[in-house]
Amino acid sequence: MKIGIIGAGHIGANAARLFTEAGHEVAIANSRGAETLRDLVAELGERAQAVGVEDAAKFGEVVFVSIPFGKYRELPADAFDGKIVIDSNNYYPDRDGNFAELDGNETTSSQMLAEHLGGARVVKGFNTIWFEHLKTQGDCDLPLEERRVIFIAGDDAEAKETVAKLIEDIGFAAVDTGDLPGGVAQQPGTAIYNRNLTASEAQAILGSEGY
Ligand SMILES: NC(=O)c1ccc[n+]([C@@H]2O[C@H](COP(=O)([O-])OP(=O)(O)OC[C@H]3O[C@@H](n4cnc5c(N)ncnc54)[C@H](OP(=O)(O)O)[C@@H]3O)[C@@H](O)[C@H]2O)c1
Repeated sequence: MKIGIIGAGHIGANAARLFTEAGHEVAIANSRGAETLRDLVAELGERAQAVGVEDAAKFGEVVFVSIPFGKYRELPADAFDGKIVIDSNNYYPDRDGNFAELDGNETTSSQMLAEHLGGARVVKGFNTIWFEHLKTQGDCDLPLEERRVIFIAGDDAEAKETVAKLIEDIGFAAVDTGDLPGGVAQQPGTAIYNRNLTASEAQAILGSEGY
């Protein structure tokens, strides 16, 4: 599958590594330009290329967005039209500045991204896993029920299926926390945030938390 990756930091670069190792093609972008990603793509090999943000979005059948949440309005919305978008962004006011609608629990960061991107099929995902664990804890040799979970949420069932399959391709298992507003279960500070859980352990916690 062709995957555009926007953000080449702790999460984006590791996701790119895992996806290329799983046989997918990636085009990766950051804010400073493709030339600053030359070393990374050389290390990732022939399935990876460095591009600009708009080209990464256009390249991907799936576009993985992993930037500081506060920058989301810089993304060129038109380039995401019809794309399945994985939103790994978390809202940290100290880093991102305050967003009154999030501080007042009127909406979620993923709904705000979806609103900005308009025509994209946004799936929240990869939000609760620390990058060092993303790098090391996937294991394709394990049956799904024994693997660490990566959570997803979204309004488009087919898009979620596609993202769940990508999660399985890199050695994890997907657990769905519901529609996009239901992604609130994955936000920093929740009971499943930064926890190494199997699917049945995750379902038990989500159930007891009322999700
Ligand atoms: N770190 C974790 O373990 C972890 C876990 C789960 C979720 N998250 C969330 O995932 C997101 C990324 O985290 P991270 O730790 O990978 O961040 P990071 O290491 O700081 O990397 C951020 C990346 O985003 C790029 N970027 C910033 N603004 C951009 C823009 N307007 N257009 C394109 N690219 C832009 C940066 O490019 P430049 O360097 O060129 O500016 C950089 O490559 C955050 O929202 C974070 O809260 C992080």
